[in-house]
Amino acid sequence: MEEDIRIYVEEAPGQRREIIAPTDMGLSLMEVLKASGYDIMATCGGMALCATCHVEVLAGPALFEPNDDELDMLETLPVIHPGSRLSCQIRLTPQTDGLVVRLAPTGA
Ligand code: FES
Repeated sequence: MEEDIRIYVEEAPGQRREIIAPTDMGLSLMEVLKASGYDIMATCGGMALCATCHVEVLAGPALFEPNDDELDMLETLPVIHPGSRLSCQIRLTPQTDGLVVRLAPTGA
């Protein structure tokens, strides 16, 4: 469908899985990753309160800047990367087509 976009998840170095995701349902990246079988706890249900949906954005389109709630939560993590984001705060739109992410290890 025209509204579908492609997201890529790097599962191992050089190994990316393509996920087709709709953009007309207001889904977050976290919801799509969970629905695709990834083990993301998302304890807070997408409220930017738990950081268990931490991902690292590796490549793709420029995203909007994280808001203060997201930044505050990211700062609680033991390890963050320049591309660290909370996947529950990334809303999938046609502008996020081609995003490449890696799931952070549990607890990181
Ligand atoms: S699901 Fe809790 S911070 Fe994203």
